[in-house]
Amino acid sequence: MPQLRDPSLLREAALVAGAWLAADPGTGIAVDNPADGSLVGHVPACGRAETQAAIDAAMAAWPEWRARTAGERCALVERWHALVLENLPDLARIMTAEQGKPLPEAEGEIRYSASFIKWFAEEGRRVGARNVTSPERDRRIIVLAEPVGPSAIITPWNFPAAMITRKCAPALAAGCPVIIKPSEFTPFTALALADLALRAGIPPGLVHVVTGTPQEIGATFAASPDVRKLSFTGSTRVGALLMRQCADTIKRVSLELGGNAPLIVFEDADLDLAVKATMVSKFRNSGQTCVCANRILVHAAIHDEFAARLGTAVAALHAAPGMEAGSTIGPLINAAAVAKVSAHVADALDKGGRILAAGGGRKDGNFARAVVIADARTDMRLASEETFGPVAPLFRFEDEAQALAMANDTPYGLASYFYTRDLSRAFRVAEALEAGMVALNTGSIAMEMAPFGGIKQSGLGREGGTAGIEEYLETKAFHIGGLER
Ligand code: SIN
Repeated sequence: MPQLRDPSLLREAALVAGAWLAADPGTGIAVDNPADGSLVGHVPACGRAETQAAIDAAMAAWPEWRARTAGERCALVERWHALVLENLPDLARIMTAEQGKPLPEAEGEIRYSASFIKWFAEEGRRVGARNVTSPERDRRIIVLAEPVGPSAIITPWNFPAAMITRKCAPALAAGCPVIIKPSEFTPFTALALADLALRAGIPPGLVHVVTGTPQEIGATFAASPDVRKLSFTGSTRVGALLMRQCADTIKRVSLELGGNAPLIVFEDADLDLAVKATMVSKFRNSGQTCVCANRILVHAAIHDEFAARLGTAVAALHAAPGMEAGSTIGPLINAAAVAKVSAHVADALDKGGRILAAGGGRKDGNFARAVVIADARTDMRLASEETFGPVAPLFRFEDEAQALAMANDTPYGLASYFYTRDLSRAFRVAEALEAGMVALNTGSIAMEMAPFGGIKQSGLGREGGTAGIEEYLETKAFHIGGLER
């Protein structure tokens, strides 16, 4: 168990209707530290009954919450933000214990997650009705924005805090209760955040956390007509399944799904900047990020120089437990993740790839060393599948048209990155890349004020920015006739 200033933040329980349902170690789900396999704690294996109880309580709590003014709701959301920052050291330690990422990265994620709470506490105050032009003198038309209603939030293990706040903060600010199903690998960060929401004064029926295996909880959400909205971050396969399950109740869905991000380095790029940004994009969270560069496409004229500089930077990475000082690559989430990374590397080497550089540190257990693979080809698994690990494959290209064809040769369309100093090319390429997010001369695209989401099989809807709260709002046209002049 992590050492905490406030040990009560580590809740071995689910949160349903304002009550903490304690885990029974005999029947509960054990959560292990991916760095060493030690037990972090247990959470209950909730199923249909607990999920339904949470839905019923959310439905009951909704009218009072939606009737509050936006200012009243957002003041409580803002208080939640303050408590998250006050408890940052404990939240980060809980996250590193269950997820594995280096502690400074976990601290960064808590700040990142708090930024969504603050942003939506502010955006919530700006949601408003608008008048539209009337076709008749005695009629007025007002377009109202109303909360969509109880929202199911299903989140992944790679960003155990930010994926929750990016969905829950806009939902709560808009006037919707939330029922969270966190990943079974990282429930404790979610539970601590929910505890802080209660301490902030957000009423008990508004935030629920049902821990357990995904299938039964997801199916209960999908089948319930009272769940008006489902927001999911995870794989395209599960996203498609949830979308099919939600069809029967015509539920609003937001899906942030898999990616296969290209990162293109053109011949005129500032190579120092390109290497620095590639390191940020590729190795954040040990490469376990949907928006990580998965394929690095490098112009032949600068390929060897870029590869050498990237190799030097990668050699300085150090795989170690996230609590250890100097760790820059934490363990992967579990053995299956390590097996996938190893299989991608082995497949690349079988097909003619070469390991050009490798990071240091641990390579046992759930640790995978960071590697740069040269001579990558499009028939390798790492070209078409998301590796979700610290592997940087370099593909060569000869001209812009070829780079764009390679970049877009994927059913996914989440993030893409490119490096150039040519302004005309910047616009041409940004407009031609098939992705919901395009980054020029930077490796970071995730921030509270910018819309985040994908096209093609990378998903539906946007989180963050001004679009993020619209996902939790319905539009109602209010017509008023017979007005006397
Ligand atoms: C993700 O991997 O799904 C989210 C990454 C981010 O917010 O940067």
